Amino acid sequence: MLKFLRTWWRDQIQERGIVSATTLLFRNLWSFLRDSTPERRRQRYGDMEYDWEHRVNTTSGTLGWRERLLGTFHSPYQPTDPALFREMMSALPIQFDKFTFIDIGSGKGRTLLMASEYPFQKIIGVELLPELHQVAQENLRLYQSESQKCFALESVCGNATTFPFPAEPLVLYLFNPLPESGLRQMLANLDRSLAANPRPAYVLYYNPLLEHVLAGTAQLTRLGGTESYSLYSSSKTELT
Ligand SMILES: C[S@@+](CC[C@H](N)C(=O)[O-])C[C@H]1O[C@@H](n2cnc3c(N)ncnc32)[C@H](O)[C@@H]1O
Repeated sequence: MLKFLRTWWRDQIQERGIVSATTLLFRNLWSFLRDSTPERRRQRYGDMEYDWEHRVNTTSGTLGWRERLLGTFHSPYQPTDPALFREMMSALPIQFDKFTFIDIGSGKGRTLLMASEYPFQKIIGVELLPELHQVAQENLRLYQSESQKCFALESVCGNATTFPFPAEPLVLYLFNPLPESGLRQMLANLDRSLAANPRPAYVLYYNPLLEHVLAGTAQLTRLGGTESYSLYSSSKTELT
């Protein structure tokens, strides 16, 4: 915990200077306290339906104070709504079995389970917090569904900003996992990977709060979307 917070503090001072970093520190602590009230906690259990249906643990309601505090300083864990996930999947103009699905900031792994209902070649989740990664691994072990189509599922514990993208056709899923500087870093890695190995890649960006960052990438173009999400693709869309 202290290591995570120390790294956060060092990065913030480098990026924005001591005054802004201190302001952000207090803003985050205030946000953590506000989210600790019984009323807010009750609200977080609103995402439980998926877990009842599938007998897994992907709710944000059961997060301990430690994961919530770290989440406040990185990106708070919140699972994707299943209906919205299906809507986004239906927008992908792809042959699923040729693509690897990667969730950047996969938390307890709900999207990995939901993606396994599609015949992806492989599914990978990258999650920063070891506690959430461990829950994701348990969920991958427990999940049972008669309609499951992909069984090559993996949760990786690590920092998405330095994740080495596999040289395969990709579907990248983003649900606000990173602050602006981290998102820029991760997308620069993706740009380099696509330039080195040109291949089809799609990015689904749910709740696109930092859309301008994606607009600034060299390899991605916006294909469409709705108020809730945006869909981007690399310039090479043909499979070889
Ligand atoms: C809004 S949640 C999305 C969870 C999941 N993708 C979903 O849609 O159900 C964002 C997640 O990103 C994780 N995260 C934050 N910074 C990260 C980083 N640098 N590398 C990997 N994961 C990170 C958080 O711990 C959190 O679990």
